[in-house]
Amino acid sequence: MSDSEDVVKVESCVLGTKGHWDSAYDRELDCFEETGDVGEIWFGKSCLKTMCKGVSQLSELNKETSKIIDLGCGNGMTLIELSKLGFKKLDGSDYSDKGIELAKRIMEQEGFNHINYFVDDITDSKIEQYVYDAVLDKGTFDAIALSEDRDRMKQLYKQHVEHILKPDGIFVITSCNYTENELKLYYTSPQFEFIKNIQYPVFSFGGSKGTTQTTLIFKKK
Ligand SMILES: C[S@@+](CC[C@H](N)C(=O)[O-])C[C@H]1O[C@@H](n2cnc3c(N)ncnc32)[C@H](O)[C@@H]1O
Repeated sequence: MSDSEDVVKVESCVLGTKGHWDSAYDRELDCFEETGDVGEIWFGKSCLKTMCKGVSQLSELNKETSKIIDLGCGNGMTLIELSKLGFKKLDGSDYSDKGIELAKRIMEQEGFNHINYFVDDITDSKIEQYVYDAVLDKGTFDAIALSEDRDRMKQLYKQHVEHILKPDGIFVITSCNYTENELKLYYTSPQFEFIKNIQYPVFSFGGSKGTTQTTLIFKKK
């Protein structure tokens, strides 16, 4: 999905810059220390719960043994939800050290200590090859697609997912910027095979029906 293939042309904006995320998580960290508020849950709590429940029902994954990473984990609430559902081997990475600090503080408050959080830039990553049984993304590909050099960044992102996933590994992507068809077009390739989507409530508006976000599940071939 180069820009020419996007149905709606996605313009670059501040959400595609590290500076934006560093200052957003700096503010959210202060707020967390003062009030205990975990900050923004991207696409809302209901999406988070539906997505995680869908992940927990995948027959390809085992809660005890499957190693899962959330790329661009931000405050880590996806991993907290998966922990509550019984997943044990969880990693979270983000290029914002403030985001990772916030995620660690929230994990402590939630009474967990098994999530391994670390700073890592997807486009210049230190993660080794074929480490994970599943890679999750909620909103991170969307953010990367808003960066100035977005065609190259999106390509690096896709190569990274392929690099860190084991063969037959699962890739779960949740987006609010791209439609199901656009994501399928971009990710169904020699490397990935579409398996299924996670269903969200459908709304109607002006004669059209839709959902506010899309979650697709792919398997690495
Ligand atoms: C829309 S937020 C989503 C955060 C989290 N996944 C969630 O659902 O709450 C996008 C996240 O992607 C992270 N991010 C963006 N570009 C990144 C990159 N190149 N490497 C690592 N993280 C990145 C941002 O720091 C931010 O935490």
